Amino acid sequence: MTATLGLFSLPRSCPAMAHLLGIDVGTTGTRAVIIEPNGSVVGATTADHPPMAMPRPGWAEQDPEDWWQATIRAVRGALERARLAGADITAVGLSGQMHGVVLLDQRDAVLRPALIWCDQRSQAQCDWITSQVGAERLIRLASNPALTGFSAPKLLWVRDHEPQLYERVRRFLLPKDYIRFRLTGEFATEVSDASGTLLFDVAQRRWSGELLCLLNVDSSLLPRCVESPDVTGTVTPAAARLTGLQAGTPVVGGAGDQAASAVGNGIVEPGLTSVTLGTSGVVFAYTETPKLDPRGRIHTFCHAVPGRWHVMGVTQGAGLSLRWFRDQLGTEECRQATETGSDPYDLLVGQARQAPAGCDGLIFLPYLMGERTPHLDPQARGVWFGLTAAHTRAHLIRSILEGVAFSLRDSLEIFGELGIPVEQIRVSGGGARNALWRQIQADVYGRELVTLAESEGSALGAALLAGVGGGVYSSVQEAARWLHLRQRIDPQPESARLYARQYEVYRALYPAVRDLAHQLAGVSGPFSRT
Ligand code: XUL
Repeated sequence: MTATLGLFSLPRSCPAMAHLLGIDVGTTGTRAVIIEPNGSVVGATTADHPPMAMPRPGWAEQDPEDWWQATIRAVRGALERARLAGADITAVGLSGQMHGVVLLDQRDAVLRPALIWCDQRSQAQCDWITSQVGAERLIRLASNPALTGFSAPKLLWVRDHEPQLYERVRRFLLPKDYIRFRLTGEFATEVSDASGTLLFDVAQRRWSGELLCLLNVDSSLLPRCVESPDVTGTVTPAAARLTGLQAGTPVVGGAGDQAASAVGNGIVEPGLTSVTLGTSGVVFAYTETPKLDPRGRIHTFCHAVPGRWHVMGVTQGAGLSLRWFRDQLGTEECRQATETGSDPYDLLVGQARQAPAGCDGLIFLPYLMGERTPHLDPQARGVWFGLTAAHTRAHLIRSILEGVAFSLRDSLEIFGELGIPVEQIRVSGGGARNALWRQIQADVYGRELVTLAESEGSALGAALLAGVGGGVYSSVQEAARWLHLRQRIDPQPESARLYARQYEVYRALYPAVRDLAHQLAGVSGPFSRT
């Protein structure tokens, strides 16, 4: 049930020719995208990262050097594809996976692998932060509760468990800001990514002196913080030699991957909402002022639009769930894909089409890396519920697509409860490229979805922010006017009715097994309490 839309609000003339580079440091790879000021992509390359290390269940680490090497390859690849020289790039914007903790010593060398966004080991530190600060005061100071996903608990885990190493820490950086340091030699971040550290006063858009004091974290560890379009430095001669960029090219603050993706999806006005299906799944809405969920189920962060905020709900294991299936149970599809030059995900989703909507009563809870929205529970576990001998491989795959969509609907329901208007939902990310997963989302949400012609998400958003800082656009809103709606996906009434009934079971399922999940964690090793 899709309809193709015409271009909308296309400005009459394009700003003077310039080229903007966006770099997105993701989980599985780093992507560099070069655009012209009218948003059209002229060159893009992704350079893969080695798989993240999971030394124990629930732990997740990456080596920042891998991100830098991937950045070099991706930027060179994008310049080559665009047939441009470094001197043609007007400005650079950075985006990246949020919440990761990169620690540098006094010589600016990386001290240990970064604890990344989905690492769940820091529940004890979250409990300590909450008791030290007080739950209500924490929400007042940081606009959010202590969650294992955020940076401060991870930083404190290192302090508690690796005290000798922590003694040597002189800098803490977020993933994209480590790349900024390698590109420009500057220690800086910006408000959207800083919001996910739990050391930031989201309402006032500055580091929280009070929180730093209560948690006994030295403010000298932190980078300076700017608004997303602000220029933070320029490419150094050494970085220019490695990347092919020109020394002196300005690098703007950019944004955490979700705020950047929102800019790339034009979520810069009230009523606009996006659902981005990458490794994680994120439901994101623009707000004029900070909107708090008293229960902390969704995050309240600064937007990349100066002086504006956003809310977002996060499913930890969205694309990650399908990738887990591919890696553990999709050996045959991977083999076939290599032989035929196709994509193993297309083969998997092709099979999912053979199962009916609702999977004949099979439900998947995608909590393979614990869950944030709505459960805030690092000990949550994946579940297949309702499995019978009649179910096939097709049902297993389809149930993953449906389970992820149910989980994202949880966030939309909370937006509704908080009175946050959702007038249009724009879907993007790897998961939105798949027609079946898009349709399942429309049916599970029971709402019309739209896609954009521009599908670059975070890297595109970073490039648009570079354009604002580089003087190509006058504001983030003006930059977003270059985006075009492409397709409308309407819910299919029969499937939507079925999913509405199944969602009630989905919703009740985790609360029913929560205690058992915790008991099991106690039996098999409480990874989040180490
Ligand atoms: C957002 C989040 C993820 C990561 C990785 O809060 O944790 O989106 O940024 O994509």
